[in-house]
Amino acid sequence: MLRIAVQSKGRLHDDTMALLREADIKVSESKRTLLVKARNFPIETLFLRDDDIPATVADGVADIGIVGLNELEEKEADAEIIRHLGFGACRLSLALPKDEPYTGPEWFEGKTIATSYPTILRKWLNKQGIKATIHVISGSVEISTGVGLADAIFDIVSSGSTLVTNKLREVETIMHSDAVLIANKLLDNEKRAILDEMLFRFDAIQSAETKKYVLLNAPAEKVDAITALLPGVKSPTVMPLAESGWCSIHTVIDEDRFWEIIGKLKAEGAQGILVIDIEKLIV
Ligand code: PRP
Ligand code: ZN
Repeated sequence: MLRIAVQSKGRLHDDTMALLREADIKVSESKRTLLVKARNFPIETLFLRDDDIPATVADGVADIGIVGLNELEEKEADAEIIRHLGFGACRLSLALPKDEPYTGPEWFEGKTIATSYPTILRKWLNKQGIKATIHVISGSVEISTGVGLADAIFDIVSSGSTLVTNKLREVETIMHSDAVLIANKLLDNEKRAILDEMLFRFDAIQSAETKKYVLLNAPAEKVDAITALLPGVKSPTVMPLAESGWCSIHTVIDEDRFWEIIGKLKAEGAQGILVIDIEKLIV
């Protein structure tokens, strides 16, 4: 049995549960239960506040966890980063009231900054050689300047809309963060094996995310020209159609190359182009 710590609510919760679901790991969520066994996989899920996840994994109370890189850095917990999971992207930034003129890091000298991330902020201030007062609060950081609690804030920025709503302006980005899978450094072999199986599934989902399955019909004499445009997983599958002189071509392509390729395919006579999402891809 492998115990995984995940956020009980908050920014990473939904994407984390969706990832487990896509990996066919069935965890039912009941608001009252902290520890839930998966129905079809040897893991149990421990629902925690994100702030508590790094230490819980480092101490071995949980074996692995999904948490923001920002929380891991802030808590300076001794856990191993296994994977970046491709969701929960955000940055940690300093922001000021929007009309305040900003001259550079020295602006912060002697000022008061409100944050939930004092460790990361203190390190940055020390590196800049700036002395400022850090006012630690655990939530609603963005209202601090408006109510006279601080001169500036240091907080998570994702879409930036919280800053706009609170008439704040981002002036320094200190770090970029995303969701990471972390593990205790002393997992035994049985737990390692369960983790490997889980990673195999996560990787299949991640490789599928940027790919599309493409089917199209092409005149037989254009098959070579068209397949040359299509970098497949190995090489495209070409099958004859019932109508003579026509073929069906199937392949997998990178999503971001799709719009670039599609025009060229049509120019070569491709018809009935069908683009399909891939659920999992094992290469
Ligand atoms: C963070 C941060 C801001 C908001 C920024 O809070 O404190 O309030 O997200 O996001 P935006 O740029 O998309 O507006 P979070 O939702 O993580 O909750 P918390 O305040 O409990 O940490
Ligand atoms: Zn938090």
